[in-house]
Amino acid sequence: MKLVIQGGNTLRGKVRIGGAKNAALVLIAASAIAGGEVILDNVPRIADVERQLEIVQALGGRAEWQEQGRVLLSWPDKVAVAVPYQLAKKLRASNLFLGALAARIGQVRMPLPGGCDIGFRPMDLHLKGLSAMGFEVELEHGFINAKARELRGARIYLDFPSVGATENIMMAAVGVPGTTIVENAAKEPEIVDLASFLSGVGATIRGAGTDLIKIEGARAGVPASAGRAPAGACDSGRGARFSVIPDRIEAGTYMIAAAAVGAEVTIENVIIRHLQPVIAKLQDVGLEVAVGEDSLTVRRSGPLRATDIKTLPYPGFPTDLQSPMMALLCLVQGTSVISENVFDNRFRVADELKRMGAQIRVKGHSAVVEGPTRLLGAQVKAPDLRAGAALIVAGLAGEGETEICQAELIERGYEKVAEKFCALGGRIKYVD
Ligand code: EPZ
Repeated sequence: MKLVIQGGNTLRGKVRIGGAKNAALVLIAASAIAGGEVILDNVPRIADVERQLEIVQALGGRAEWQEQGRVLLSWPDKVAVAVPYQLAKKLRASNLFLGALAARIGQVRMPLPGGCDIGFRPMDLHLKGLSAMGFEVELEHGFINAKARELRGARIYLDFPSVGATENIMMAAVGVPGTTIVENAAKEPEIVDLASFLSGVGATIRGAGTDLIKIEGARAGVPASAGRAPAGACDSGRGARFSVIPDRIEAGTYMIAAAAVGAEVTIENVIIRHLQPVIAKLQDVGLEVAVGEDSLTVRRSGPLRATDIKTLPYPGFPTDLQSPMMALLCLVQGTSVISENVFDNRFRVADELKRMGAQIRVKGHSAVVEGPTRLLGAQVKAPDLRAGAALIVAGLAGEGETEICQAELIERGYEKVAEKFCALGGRIKYVD
């Protein structure tokens, strides 16, 4: 699938942000921990969510779309232990069933997620956490096998505040008797959303959003074990009705696009606090940002200037917006230095931007961007989801026609992206 963009149009109008991909994906897995039917609202209809729902069905669960953005999930008493490789390999977030199944049935067989487009993405911190809580963890033939043994609350220090490891440990800990403490935990808003959901189905979690999270697990002496739901959340018979937080990365992408091509865009349905690092950075480059209750208006009134970007775990500048920012910084006056401190191979979009005339030098974890450059439309390829979003920004700002192939990667994380940009005045369409 390709996206074809005619550059040069300014963007004007309003865009409504959907539910957060990275919250929806973990909440779909976490639904296995609830004791009853789960209804999730504000779920983005994107490819990664569809794949995650297919895994629920493959495990024996029920996963159905209802009206706009609502998903109904329920799980039988008997749930499969093994996450199918053919489905799991399609998205990294399949690894979030590790903690969810560990909590629900006390065992799980999970394919090791492949290395991927943005760097080697190990699972050592996930496995360290489960082992510390008394799960027997084995790696064999490309699979992770985890089984409940002597489960007990543990104190787990994360060498890196990994989002997925924090989420998997939180979920698994719900089925472990005693108190589990996660130190140096990830603080992303999606972690807080997961904690709110788990609390809603009976878990006791404190500190989500800080670097120290405490989880009170299953009632002592009644831990999870193979094939039987643990005490605590699962046996409460409690279902849940939960609305996914807005997607801060989708919102930031539209803010960056508006900065790249001007002129004035209002972005609706956002949580301002989640966007602070992005607002601050875009103000640094000279964009006007007027903040409302749950929306903001970005206005480009004059030339933009260079700035430096350092990606960091939340509340630092999000790595998922590093590539779109790289596209923007090609267009501004001056030299910008981008350092990517979260993933070890997330500059792949630079080569594609250089095909459009960008002047970027990549060296290790840093990229130096010279501007301003006239970006010229070209045939380019999306190497990963967020790099694809960056190429849309570049195509909208560039002169002439840009053709992005492998555009299905963009569909993984952006709902109705062509439709939304067209509604703002962009000239962009899908071509099979
Ligand atoms: C989540 O990925 C997001 N995905 C990513 O979004 C996001 O970029 C990332 O967090 C960082 O914010 C989902 O939530 C589904 P990590 P995750 O574990 O959990 C290393 C997007 O575009 N690490 O925080 O996989 C790892 O290699 C996606 O929406 C270990 O070393 O990220 C990486 O360098 C991309 N050992 C760093 O930590 C581990 O056991 C951050 O990874 C785990 C991670």
